[in-house]
Amino acid sequence: MASNRNCPEIRENGEEESTELRRLFKGLENCPGFVRVGPAGYLFSVAFEPEIKSIYNMEVRATDIIYVATFPRSGTTWTQEMVWLLLNDLDYAKAASLNLVDRYINVGISIWGLASRAKGAKILKFKEEDKRKYKQIITPGCELLAAASDPRFIKTHLPMCMLPPNLIETAKIVYVARDPRDVVVSLYHFYRLMPVPQFTGDFKTFWNMFVRDNVIRTPYFAHIKEAWELRNHPNMLFLFYEELKNDLSNTIKRTAKFFNKEYTDEQISVLCNHLNINNFRHNDSVSLNFLADVFIPGEEPFIRKGKVGGWRDYFDDEMTVECEQWMAKKLKETGIRFPVFSN
Ligand code: A3P
Repeated sequence: MASNRNCPEIRENGEEESTELRRLFKGLENCPGFVRVGPAGYLFSVAFEPEIKSIYNMEVRATDIIYVATFPRSGTTWTQEMVWLLLNDLDYAKAASLNLVDRYINVGISIWGLASRAKGAKILKFKEEDKRKYKQIITPGCELLAAASDPRFIKTHLPMCMLPPNLIETAKIVYVARDPRDVVVSLYHFYRLMPVPQFTGDFKTFWNMFVRDNVIRTPYFAHIKEAWELRNHPNMLFLFYEELKNDLSNTIKRTAKFFNKEYTDEQISVLCNHLNINNFRHNDSVSLNFLADVFIPGEEPFIRKGKVGGWRDYFDDEMTVECEQWMAKKLKETGIRFPVFSN
């Protein structure tokens, strides 16, 4: 049952920061305001504010809820497909017939639809027949969840502090973290691709905003830290994108074990092949190709390079030094340790 707790504190974003957001994100140019949530100050459009309390108070059901939680562009889609298949007896035919956006309810995605619906904001126009297709973007996740039957698969990019406090004791969570340098490059492309927020500046400008926590959904390190602190909880499986890349087969085995599932080596090998990016990018059930008419033309696709270390092509010397200092400071403060692989 839903409860009625207070939610994390919400305050207004600084005026200068909000002006910068309106200037550089075309999809947010008429957004009436921005808010900072919780002690870390996660950034959202003011239009999302009413939903923050509903999400914090939403009903959490016991064994039927599987959360895949990440900071955006950390390998969510990849992990969702892996988790869904492991929990659905590797039913590839069913996976192919049901789009991933219909297999998981995305709690918090409606920040974009809501941002666009805010008074005076640029409106994301949907044709009547497309409304069902895009219902995840235009409908608050809590409404979809309340109406969903069990088992409910849930994904979210929200940090732990914005989810119901009884979540970790009640449901299983798979959290995925990724090197922030690859995240920021990937997020830059994604925020250019989406009509809301539709970033219009260059990468260096985006990086500067990201490191100052003035990009929607930042701060990045606080998000990871909240899940990292729960990494040893029996209901938390904490993964790194780099682990999936380095040894997908073993990461699948760990994930299967977390859900008390057993598969043969042969079955895992077939799953590795299914999840390989070269197959994944052509898989219409996960690629978001159905949104092609909404995406900004000429931008990089949703399933993009899928590389570790691709950031090197984007960072100049000055950004590299700044980033090294930023990461060293944050890693020290948070105690997070990224895995290091030799290849
Ligand atoms: P890049 O933009 O660096 O290529 P999310 O699903 O959280 O939005 O994450 C998107 C990132 O994961 C993108 O990174 C995307 O290309 C990558 N990705 C998606 N599917 C993948 C796969 N099967 N293997 C490796 N990376 C994948």
